[in-house]
Amino acid sequence: MSNPARTVTTGLASALSAPSPGTGTTGSTGPSSRRTDGPARVVVDLDLPGATISRHLYGHFAEHLGRCIYGGFFVGEDSEIPNTRGIRHDVVDALRALRIPNLRWPGGCFADEYHWKDGIGPREQRPRMVNSHWGDVVEDNSFGTHEFMDLVELLGTEAYVNGNVGSGTVAEMSEWIEYLTRADDSPMASLRRENGREGPWKVPYFGIGNEAWGCGGNMRAEDYAALARQYSTYVRDHAGNEVTRIAAGASDDDYGWTEALMKAIGTLKGRETKPKPFQAISLHHYTMSGPWQDKGSATEFTEDEWYLTLARAARTEELVARHSTVMDHYDPHKQVGLVLDEWGTWWNVEPGTNPGFLYQQNTVRDALVASLHFDGFHRHADRLVMANIAQTVNVLQAMVLTDPDSGALVLTPTYHVFEMNAGHQDAAALDAHVLLPEEPREIEGRTLPSISASASTTGETALISLSNLDASEGRTLVLDLRGREVTGHSARVLTGASSAAHNTPEQPDAVAPVELTTVREHERGLEVELPPHSFATVQLQLG
Ligand code: AHR
Repeated sequence: MSNPARTVTTGLASALSAPSPGTGTTGSTGPSSRRTDGPARVVVDLDLPGATISRHLYGHFAEHLGRCIYGGFFVGEDSEIPNTRGIRHDVVDALRALRIPNLRWPGGCFADEYHWKDGIGPREQRPRMVNSHWGDVVEDNSFGTHEFMDLVELLGTEAYVNGNVGSGTVAEMSEWIEYLTRADDSPMASLRRENGREGPWKVPYFGIGNEAWGCGGNMRAEDYAALARQYSTYVRDHAGNEVTRIAAGASDDDYGWTEALMKAIGTLKGRETKPKPFQAISLHHYTMSGPWQDKGSATEFTEDEWYLTLARAARTEELVARHSTVMDHYDPHKQVGLVLDEWGTWWNVEPGTNPGFLYQQNTVRDALVASLHFDGFHRHADRLVMANIAQTVNVLQAMVLTDPDSGALVLTPTYHVFEMNAGHQDAAALDAHVLLPEEPREIEGRTLPSISASASTTGETALISLSNLDASEGRTLVLDLRGREVTGHSARVLTGASSAAHNTPEQPDAVAPVELTTVREHERGLEVELPPHSFATVQLQLG
């Protein structure tokens, strides 16, 4: 959301607020390319592994918003849609195939008006509430803590629970983590047992409020920073459960907010220091082609809007780099994590749908927004420890869309990018330098090369991700593979008949990955032909 309570930036933070000039050379502030007189090339140093790409960069987010939880994940035991304890089989199966590493819940803005004790105990006795942020609908609390942790277990993922600072108390937050994770006969552990769960759950991630500058309380940075210290203190590690506490961070380029939170931790000199009282800071940034009031259509866009969207998506990397620079000042050994726990496209809702439900289609353009983000994430894996696309089902840039009438499920183009990139999870980042014969496009004072790339290695294999951002032209690229012998390769490509192609129940595979057959041996490595508006992955076997 836009940030009404922006902090006044001073010193370090204000120095970073100027737009990036876009130098056209590979650097740390955004996707870039070098000029070459030869053919387009992507140079990969296969023998120089860098930072580990945390699997948590492929994290997800599920809020009580529109049809994400209700109708999306949860249909109730009595539904005709096949389910386990009310949780849809098809959604779980689709997400298990992605190996999703973590799921953030219950919000978002909803987190700061959610009182967890309303969501436990017999369903028919749970109090109701108004979900004032999202459609002003009545929430019956039928999906609560036990249902969420059940979902986490069915998905084989890890829980990121987001607590309430805006309208909740310190005691409430403290009791929630006790309820979730304590093993003995403490009051909250006993209450959990009364509600049918014997053993504690693992909750490795806990959010200290959300968007405290806006929907989470309209606070000033210094005021929230003081609360973040206080609330975090009472999110205890119980029964061997080690929590990473994530303070509610900045929107977009509000570097002053990040600086205030780093000051609240203090300067961390030694490598052995465990940051206290919180261990990570979040950041939110959404991509849209219009202004906040009219963000643009998901499916109907001009070529100019295509490039504008991709240039804005590429800006996320600049934001990550600059927030990291602020953090480096106080934490040179990168012990505090940066967590981009809301990112993705935000379009006008689909015509005829509830404006408060944020339901949008998902095209090839969304797929390339995702692939551009991942390339940037891989380059900043030393500081960026987690990222959560918003949101998993039926809301914003979703992985899966479900039909409210028939219940049919479709996988989106974005889903396929997550699946094709899954091999980067916990692999070591490799430098991938893009060299292009043409000047990059200039958009809003920044450069947008028409090719984006990133790579990683697990030792015996390497995975290269390639995005052809050109709306209408195919591209032949040389993969200049250095430092290791390549003994085998395979490749897949994702594209559609047009840049706005998308999947529907009638045409579920209009945008789906297929084998890329246009890969040839080349004296420098491989030569690859990419169709227009496409994403490809090349998997290498290394000798
Ligand atoms: O993801 C939708 C909303 O966007 C979230 O609830 C909020 O945190 C952000 O403004």
